[in-house]
Amino acid sequence: MTLPMTVPAPGLPARVRIHEVGPRDGLQNEKGTVPTEVKAEFVRRLADAGLTTIEATSFVHPKWVPQLADAEELFPLVGDLPVALPVLVPNERGLDRALALGARRVAVFASATESFAKANLNRTVDEALAMFEPVVARAKASGVHVRGYLSMCFGDPWEGAVPVPQVVKVCKALLDMGCDELSLGDTIGVATPGHVRALLTELTEQGTPVAALGVHFHDTYGQALANTYAALEHGVTTVDASAGGLGGCPYAKSATGNLATEDLVWMLRGLGIDTGVDLDRLVATSAWMAEQLGRPSPSRTVRALSHKEQ
Ligand code: HMG
Ligand code: MG
Repeated sequence: MTLPMTVPAPGLPARVRIHEVGPRDGLQNEKGTVPTEVKAEFVRRLADAGLTTIEATSFVHPKWVPQLADAEELFPLVGDLPVALPVLVPNERGLDRALALGARRVAVFASATESFAKANLNRTVDEALAMFEPVVARAKASGVHVRGYLSMCFGDPWEGAVPVPQVVKVCKALLDMGCDELSLGDTIGVATPGHVRALLTELTEQGTPVAALGVHFHDTYGQALANTYAALEHGVTTVDASAGGLGGCPYAKSATGNLATEDLVWMLRGLGIDTGVDLDRLVATSAWMAEQLGRPSPSRTVRALSHKEQ
């Protein structure tokens, strides 16, 4: 398999943990129903490719995200894998469902903007935070790790640009209620590197440890890798990505696929940054998943490396 030449750049982390979101953020947006067994096979193949954190599904209202309505069936099929399997839980009902199946990592998902809070959670920003508070408290009391997503950190389809202080305020609320880590979401992919740097600088200057920060870029305008590089320069070591570049958000029309895990691994490998991921196996997994979905992967790296094999 073709690999990039390794040429390290100064000042970057030695290792990055990839938080794989393909089975959740990737598949939540599919029009057709993906069979539960195919989803389970997808998760197993991702684990086999060396991904150690794989967001498996969401325990949300099944009518809101029908594509993930099989969470109860899926989770037991993958629960024995030796990897972290975080799941999304919007409220106590979701937490109950996740805990009943033995989930050890959950994620709540807030919004920096009122419009998306309403569209995604049927709540104001503050009402959503109030909904998460008992979820986080109970999860922590059970020794469960909690991630706090924050959507629309850089722009919102209804409200336009989102001021940095507005984002920082909700980040603080999530950390104050006990979230172990944050994932800063560019839900609609409008961020650019200077903006990423500005938000990270503000957060760290106000006392948030960089180790508690992850980044979650969608690639709508082709900026996801550049934005990731800006985050690495700031010391971020947790990067969300979706195998094959699958993804989007059913409640934000302009959201397209996430940063493709393969494109990320290609860049990190070239920089000499360790991820533990076997690119060959990962590309084969995304090529297999593209066949299941009946359309080619949007990932440039998957396409380039799949063509080479033919
Ligand atoms: P609601 O309609 O306000 O719900 O939805 P409710 O609290 O009024 O409850 C209504 C009924 O739903 C009740 O049943 C509840 O029990 C039931 P009833 O008593 O009427 O028979 N219910 C549930 N059932 C199963 N599981 C649950 C659950 N909760 C309530 N968890 C709610 C509020 C939060 C539930 C809804 O808005 C929802 O499920 N939203 C999820 C939307 C979603 O998953 N969006 C995609 C993920 S976010 C994302 O993609 C962004 C991210 O990738 C980062 C980025 O890119 O920015 C993370
Ligand atoms: Mg997302």
